[in-house]
Amino acid sequence: MKKILIVGAGGQIGSELVPYLRSIYGSNNVVATDVRECKGLGDDGPFEVLDALNPTNMASVVARHNIDTIFNLVALLSAVGEKNPQMAWGVNMGALLNSLEVARQHHCAVFTPSSIGAFGPTSPKDMTPQDTIMQPTTVYGICKVTGELLSNYYTLKYGIDTRSIRFPGIISNKTLPGGGTTDYAVEIYYEALRKKHYTCAVPHDVYMDMIYMPDALRAVVELMEADPAKLKHRNSFNIASMSFTPDILAAEIRKRIPDFTMDFNVDPVKEAIANSWPNMLDDTCAREEWGWKPQWDISSMTDDMLTAVAKKLNK
Ligand code: SER
Repeated sequence: MKKILIVGAGGQIGSELVPYLRSIYGSNNVVATDVRECKGLGDDGPFEVLDALNPTNMASVVARHNIDTIFNLVALLSAVGEKNPQMAWGVNMGALLNSLEVARQHHCAVFTPSSIGAFGPTSPKDMTPQDTIMQPTTVYGICKVTGELLSNYYTLKYGIDTRSIRFPGIISNKTLPGGGTTDYAVEIYYEALRKKHYTCAVPHDVYMDMIYMPDALRAVVELMEADPAKLKHRNSFNIASMSFTPDILAAEIRKRIPDFTMDFNVDPVKEAIANSWPNMLDDTCAREEWGWKPQWDISSMTDDMLTAVAKKLNK
């Protein structure tokens, strides 16, 4: 990776992946793009407005900057996707297909996040294997599975270097996620500091995989830098870090904010999605094939999140 293009850079992952990659590969070697102007992303490196659904414009940015690696971060998340499945399919698959096609024409590598949402109710719930039944019941998950297969196809058929990670819910403190089922695990920290109270839209006892952003960023770079000869899989790797329920996370916060309370106003759409996803993935293949190892757990993450969000909220 010498010259990197990020599409969809203004979202939860992109807003932190851009500075992270710039710190490693040099500010001018990471071109951030998004469908709209994004505050901050152009401060210390190139930023352009780019609609990822326009293949001509994407190809022109790639050619102009001599790009060798594309990070496609464009996606409508799981819960919002259920409100407009046709649009979710159009945006999520359109951006991926354009990224793959431009990569084919300009000889680039491609990274696209997949998700725990690629699994469904018929997948094994506990220690969900790398290679198993994948019959998701959300349009988001259907896009992820299709995207995994399509990316592998581009590798088999055209020799394009495609790689991907099935991310757990990502917890971070820079840009809020939006429209995801795992969003509660970010919002809870803000509300704990603002109001010492949080109303959770996900049932109290549902386990989902989660990961803290610094681990997610490191995973992306480690996978993209991995020796291709060691990769038996490509699209996409299970990774695991921590798995908890809303009750467990609330108890962790209560250790630091003893009068924090939580009640529930369960959203039936999020409930159905959360119940259809695994409790915890088996990440053996990622560990074996490219040395994945998480560094954060629920306790260290909660310390760090409360400190960072308090600073942000001037608390
Ligand atoms: N965080 C995503 C969501 O909840 C899952 O990948 O939709």
